[in-house]
Amino acid sequence: MNNIFRKKRIEDLLDVSTGEKSLKKVLGAFELTMLGIGAIIGTGIFVLTGIAAANYSGPALVISFIISSIACAFAGLCYAEFAAMVPVAGSAYTYGYAALGEFWAWIIGWDLIAEYAFAISAVAIGWSGYIVKLLSAVGINLPAAFIKAPHEGGLVNLPAILIIAVISALLLVGVKQSAIVNDIIVAIKVAVVLLFIALGVSHVNPSNWTPFMPYGWSGVISGASVIFFAYIGFDAVSTAAEEVKNPQKDLPIGIIGSLAVCTVLYIVVSAILTGMVPYLQFKETAAPVAYALEQVGIHWGSALVSVGAVCGITSVLLVMIFGQTRVLFAMSRDGLLPKVFGEVHPKYKTPAKSTIFVGIVSAVLAGFTPIGVVAELTNIGTLTAFVIVCAAVIVLRKKRPDIQRNFKCPLVPVVPALGIAFCLLLIFKLPVVTQLRFLVWLVIGFAIYFWYGNKNSIMNKDKGSVA
Ligand code: ALA
Repeated sequence: MNNIFRKKRIEDLLDVSTGEKSLKKVLGAFELTMLGIGAIIGTGIFVLTGIAAANYSGPALVISFIISSIACAFAGLCYAEFAAMVPVAGSAYTYGYAALGEFWAWIIGWDLIAEYAFAISAVAIGWSGYIVKLLSAVGINLPAAFIKAPHEGGLVNLPAILIIAVISALLLVGVKQSAIVNDIIVAIKVAVVLLFIALGVSHVNPSNWTPFMPYGWSGVISGASVIFFAYIGFDAVSTAAEEVKNPQKDLPIGIIGSLAVCTVLYIVVSAILTGMVPYLQFKETAAPVAYALEQVGIHWGSALVSVGAVCGITSVLLVMIFGQTRVLFAMSRDGLLPKVFGEVHPKYKTPAKSTIFVGIVSAVLAGFTPIGVVAELTNIGTLTAFVIVCAAVIVLRKKRPDIQRNFKCPLVPVVPALGIAFCLLLIFKLPVVTQLRFLVWLVIGFAIYFWYGNKNSIMNKDKGSVA
C-alpha cells in the first residue's frame, strides 16, 4: 500500500489548472453569485420548510434557519479562503488533498459525491411534486403510478427522471450557454420569493407564532439539521473555480455573496410563512409557500409562486449536476477514479461522458427513492465535508503560512473551530438511521479507495510531499 497521507503541493495544483488539460475559463463574479443563488434557493425553501415547521421547529423555524446559516457562514468563510488560494476544479476535495493528504481528500471527495448525487435526486423529486401540482391545476392529471416512487404507492417518478435528463443535456453542451439560462431562472425565482414576501406580510397573524417552540430547543436544532438542505449550493460555486476568469477576487464574492442574499431571504420568508398559517397545517402540503398564499385567499399569487418554484428548483439541478461532474473530473485527473470521468469533450470542452453517467445514476435514484431519505443523506454528506474543510484551513495556516492568501478567513482558528462545532451539532441531530446509512456509504468509499484509488493515484509517480 502506498502512503495514504501524501499531500499535493499547492504550486503543482495551480500548474494543472492552467495546463492543457484544464477547462475553458468563462465565468465572472456576477455569474458565480448567480450560480450560487441558482444552487441555493430551491427544494429547501419551497418544500422542506413545511416539513421542518410542522415536525420539528414550529414557528421557531426562523431560529432553525439562523442556526443553519451560522454553520454555513463559518464554513463559507473557510471555503472562500481555499477557493481563492487554490482555484482548481474539485473544490473541497482538492483543498483536503493539499492540507491533510490523500486519504482525507478521498473522504471529502466521496462525501461530495454523496452530497451531489443525493441532492440531485431530492431536488428532482421536489420539482416533480410542483410540476404535477401545476399540471393538475390546468386539468392535466398524470397517472399516479408514474409520479411516485414505489414506497409511496407508485411505480416510478417519471417527471423527476425527465428533468434530470433535460438538464444533463444542457450541461453537456457547454458552461456558457448554461450560465445564461441559469441567470434567467435565478431572476424569476428571486422575483417570486420577493412576491411572496410582499403579498404575505400583510396577512401575518401574530397569534400563529405561539407557541413559538412547540417541540423545544431540541426540535429547533433538529429543524436546523433538516433545513440545512436549503443552504446547500454555495459550496458548488467553488467547484467551478477552474472555469473562473479572475478566481482570487471572484470566488469569495460568489460564495459569501450568494450565501448572504439567500440567508436574508430565508429568514424573512420563514417568519412570514409561519405567521400566515398555523404550523401544524403544513403537515398537509408538499408546497407550503404556495399553500400559505392559497390559505389567505391569494390564488393568483399561489399559482405564480408555483411556477417560480418550478423554475427555481430547475436551476438548483443545473448547478448540482454541474458540481457533481466537476468533483468526479478532479478525482479522475488525480487517478483516484477511472480516467473516463476526466475526459473532456473535444468540441464542447465539457466532461461529457461523466455528465451522462451522473445523469443516469441520479435519475435512477430520483425515480425510485423517497425524498426524505435522499435529503437527509445530502445533509450529512455535506456537513461532513464542511467539517474537514474547516479543519483543513487551520492545518494549512500552520503548515504553509508562506502561501499567498488572497482572501483570509477572519479569526483563525476560532471561526473554523466554530464551523466544526456547529456542523457536528447538526450531524448529531439527524436521525440515527441516516447516520448509519452514511457510515455504510463511507465504508464502501474506503473499500474503493484501497482497492482502486490508492494504487492508481498519480501521486505514485509524482513529487507530492508526505510531510
Ligand atoms: N439548497 C438547495 C435546495 O434547497 C439544495 O434545493
